Amino acid sequence: MLKNKTIIDQLTLEQKASLLSGKNTWETYDIPGLFPSMFLSDGPHGVRKQLGEADHLGLNESVPSTCFPTAATLANSWDENLLEKVGEYLGREANHLGVQVLLGPGLNIKKNPKCGRNFEYYSEDPYFSGKLAAASIRGIQKNQTIACPKHFAVNSQEYRRMASDSIIDERTLQEIYLTGFEIAVKEGHPKSIMSSYNLINGTYANENKKLLRDILRDNWKFDGFVVSDWGGDNDHTQGVINGSHLAMPSPGVNGPIEIVESVKSGKLPENILNERVDELLSVILTSTAMSKETEIVDWKEHHQVAKEAAMKSVVLLKNSEHILPIDITKKVGIIGEFAKKPRYQGAGSSVVNPKQLENTLELVADYPINFVGFSQGFERGKQVNETLEKEAVALAETSDIILLYVGLDEILESEGMDRPHTQMPNNQLNLIKELSKTSAKIVVVLSAGASMEMPWLDQVDSVLHGYLGGQAGAGAMLEVITGKYNPSGKLSETYPISYKDVLFGEEFPYKGKYAYYKEGIFVGYRYYDRAKKEVLFPFGFGLSYTHFKYSQLEVQSNDVIFKMTNQGTCEGTEIAQLYIGKSDSQISRAEKELKGFVKVSLLPGETKEVRISLDDKAFRYFNVDTNQWEVESGNYQLMMGASSRDIRLVTDIVKEGTESQLPKNEEKLAKFKTSHFSDLEWVDFERLYGQKVPVEVTKGRQLLHANSVISEMSQAKNPLARLVRRIIYNLIKKSEKKGEPNLNLLFIYNMPFRAIGKMTNGMVSQEMVDKIVHMVNGHFFSGLGGLFKAYKKNKKQTKEFMR
Ligand code: BGC
Repeated sequence: MLKNKTIIDQLTLEQKASLLSGKNTWETYDIPGLFPSMFLSDGPHGVRKQLGEADHLGLNESVPSTCFPTAATLANSWDENLLEKVGEYLGREANHLGVQVLLGPGLNIKKNPKCGRNFEYYSEDPYFSGKLAAASIRGIQKNQTIACPKHFAVNSQEYRRMASDSIIDERTLQEIYLTGFEIAVKEGHPKSIMSSYNLINGTYANENKKLLRDILRDNWKFDGFVVSDWGGDNDHTQGVINGSHLAMPSPGVNGPIEIVESVKSGKLPENILNERVDELLSVILTSTAMSKETEIVDWKEHHQVAKEAAMKSVVLLKNSEHILPIDITKKVGIIGEFAKKPRYQGAGSSVVNPKQLENTLELVADYPINFVGFSQGFERGKQVNETLEKEAVALAETSDIILLYVGLDEILESEGMDRPHTQMPNNQLNLIKELSKTSAKIVVVLSAGASMEMPWLDQVDSVLHGYLGGQAGAGAMLEVITGKYNPSGKLSETYPISYKDVLFGEEFPYKGKYAYYKEGIFVGYRYYDRAKKEVLFPFGFGLSYTHFKYSQLEVQSNDVIFKMTNQGTCEGTEIAQLYIGKSDSQISRAEKELKGFVKVSLLPGETKEVRISLDDKAFRYFNVDTNQWEVESGNYQLMMGASSRDIRLVTDIVKEGTESQLPKNEEKLAKFKTSHFSDLEWVDFERLYGQKVPVEVTKGRQLLHANSVISEMSQAKNPLARLVRRIIYNLIKKSEKKGEPNLNLLFIYNMPFRAIGKMTNGMVSQEMVDKIVHMVNGHFFSGLGGLFKAYKKNKKQTKEFMR
């Protein structure tokens, strides 16, 4: 039964069809008197409402708004209340700016530290990501704004993102890549969700019935709408049939025309079209989408919230001889370009035009620091500058302590590209080396949205990591440096010692059609633990200016209870983590998995009783034979830790399981149960996958199709197409060398031909795309003729449809 039948009955087929794709880059269609349009805007850590020329890559400026810390940063706070609060303030700004749908949070899994968008995501752990996303969604939706968690799902590399097929086994899909979304949907109740660009085991996420209908709607009871990622709608009709509601941005009238034709030809039953229209209208017509520009924003207050968020997310990684908090009597020099021009957010669609932007040098006078001078030390994106280095060394020689502001340059972290490596830029590494030769104590203050190698760790005294702190990150960091705030953040991802330690790291990003999820469930700490590998910093790690004692662990029905004492001399907050493992498990499991966490604030000497409730995710695993969640019977270890590698208390409990048969393929997965991960072979992946794994066969020149990516023109039959590809490639390389990668060109290079039709506001129809491909395939003149005809047809059709 349709909820909005009265309205739907008044709509023509063309009107219904129109509703399912964008009116322009950011808006949906409206029908005055019946329903309004919705304005959708990025994004996850600030509202990016574009008024002028629209693009979805963050290239053109947007209306100023508060730039909060990015998701990777906020995750380090382990603070659901904080995430909810930031969400609430984001929602208010969206509301104030007339944005009904905020395109965030992003919660893809950090499968590999080189994914260019890791700064926009929470964690390598699904449970943790889901909890934080749910909190953020609850916050955003408090203020009549619709949240849009993204990108659903298995979208953990940027390279070739619109045409990459994620090949993944069922258990890994369920346990690692869907669990976060499950929690986000069930506990956050978002009114929309964004499907990802990629395919999953051969089917586009946006056309994936299992994902969009069976799991999302039927199983998780999602009652919002599904929007494609921008240009990520492949076959619009298939999308609609399989549960997608809105294709964004605007394909002009080509989207609606396709739907009308599909209904007329019987390919798309009209009742399914009505169902999608009804589901979408149900959201549009609820109060959320109807409210416009009501909220008054107190920008100062929002700035304070951004500061609080950044402060609670700072992680203290090292603090030899208690150099921090800084002693007022010591002479402090500040070195590093990031102290003058902060590195505070990532690049791409999430870029916020900040309402204001703090920097350390402007603020330092407000803090109890005996500041003796500043030296830039390096220039971002450039080679070593000996003059700047010498100046910095001279400053260090006259200072007791150096606050060294370094990290990753902007170009190293962007949507649309993966990181080339996980090292810091050379000029910064060199600067650290030179400074470490002086007698000054060095406090490294890091800005970066992802993990990195730190070969210099032994040469410095303290390390504070602020991640990407947003517009108020500089002040937040000074609060921590001076001890006005005792750092309490903990890492939400593992820092391997070297990229060489990353499982299958040499294969990432997958350049061909298939992206393999060969490590199975062993992502992040699940792998390092099982493989017994040393890491630089474990998942969940972070220090404080005080220290905490854990004691008296016990389990009372569904609650894990223990005591925590602040044993130091200052007030502090500790993040305690509950991990569960089953050492005698019959199935391949991680040694332990995060199943709960709690944040406790304590005065010096104070003790509190702490409680964490076990939920339905605590003991479950996905059984591929019964195709459902099961619980293995027997003994489990409950571990309370200060990090994943610092377990303070352990207790065993016996759990009655669901008595199902263990999955048969487990017999063949013996290697996954040992620490011999480096020996994993292709055949192990096939065993895990449970069937033959698809491999791409490339054999010189070949026929391309609408879903081939532009970069594949290197194999095109038409030499002109090959030349065009080479030109684009050279331009990209040139821009990268200059230190300013051309995101537009990168997007084009990795884009399938079909996206030309999806992203040109109706100027190019899919028929025209086919003719272009025909030309690329060596039929230049017949293709050109066809292209011209298709162009005229498109013009005529557009006119008629508009009428
Ligand atoms: C990104 C999305 C974003 C959309 C709109 C896409 O390129 O993947 O995260 O919301 O653009 O800007």
